[in-house]
Amino acid sequence: MTHPTPHLNIGLFGFGTVGEGLHEVFEKVRIKDAEIRRICVRDLSKPRSLPAPMFTDNPDDIFADPAINLIVELIDDAESSYKLVRRALEAGIPVVTGNKKMLAYHLEELIELQARTSTALLYDASACGSIPVIRNLEEYYDNDLLISVKGILNGSSNFILSKIFNESMSYDKALRLAQELGFAESNPTFDVDGYDSLFKLVIITVHAFGSYVSPDRVFNYGISTMNDADIRFANEKRRRIKLVAQVEKIEGNRFIMCVMPQFITKDKYIYSVEDEFNGVVIKGECYGKQFMFGRGAGGHPTGSSVLSDITARLHDYKYEYKKRHGSTPPRYTDELSFQLYLRYTDEADRELFRFTDITERYWSNDHKYVIGKVSLRNLVEIQERLRGKDLFLAAYPEN
Ligand code: HSE
Repeated sequence: MTHPTPHLNIGLFGFGTVGEGLHEVFEKVRIKDAEIRRICVRDLSKPRSLPAPMFTDNPDDIFADPAINLIVELIDDAESSYKLVRRALEAGIPVVTGNKKMLAYHLEELIELQARTSTALLYDASACGSIPVIRNLEEYYDNDLLISVKGILNGSSNFILSKIFNESMSYDKALRLAQELGFAESNPTFDVDGYDSLFKLVIITVHAFGSYVSPDRVFNYGISTMNDADIRFANEKRRRIKLVAQVEKIEGNRFIMCVMPQFITKDKYIYSVEDEFNGVVIKGECYGKQFMFGRGAGGHPTGSSVLSDITARLHDYKYEYKKRHGSTPPRYTDELSFQLYLRYTDEADRELFRFTDITERYWSNDHKYVIGKVSLRNLVEIQERLRGKDLFLAAYPEN
């Protein structure tokens, strides 16, 4: 029998877009059983919207305060975040975090640490901002019935694609706007090259299928090399390019994972997901498809999700990781072929791809493309060699 925590005194790490967003959401909601007691920031000299005594730059001030019974960690740097989370769990202080990169690399050991210390770590804000995808996968979706989780998990790249496709805005201008609006990561490469989606996918997969797969083993490719020829091609085919992350069960109790652009037809739910919104399609054996849609980035949406984890702690909520116990969790594989569009200039680059079943080829003075089947394994093997090359690839699902 667990007992509810009487009053939460929060030690907050980080007061950037999400930290400040959380504070503002707190002000609106006025929860009487929880309050932010102290905030640890890197730079004390920055002007802040709260009185100076609230802030410290010394983590020990938070850890040494015996009244603090919840750490909320919203800093940018994954390694510092990891050290803070470990330190808190080892001290028996529950943690709420939004750091997806940290979780994607350390979740396996942090699950063990939670069990060893009987201390909770919650992180719904780490994937899809305000959409409660993790808690739903954890609590509602049974492992045996779930087939796939697929969707747009990165608000910034979706925002950029919307601006390009709907308003003919340039890529650079759209990216600058996403940064100004506070959607993009401090290093926007994470957004546009698919890493942010990949980190979220790794976390989602743990709660969808009970299996942890290191991000280094999963193919990810982003939108930063997309050019006018690719946009023209998408328009000609009446499709839109979306950056899609997916985990999907295949035969033999196995599942595949990948993050890459896809040419999406109008009949798909995610076709209409615009701007910084995220959309997640959950597919199951008995219920078909379900669609979750909402704001995936920004201070208030993400702050709301952090607040939801905080209030969950008032009821002593923790993830049970039920799918990791009991029945045998499915195994990750990259043995799957699918149809791919590759736009390239150099034939040597194309030869990296072991295409079969080619259905379309195009040559002109300024670019070439090919559509055919490739295996995920082929892509995983060559992914490091693709970085920086003058090419663009995207899944081209058959109708
Ligand atoms: N940079 C992220 C995005 C923020 O654009 O989705 C939310 O995780």
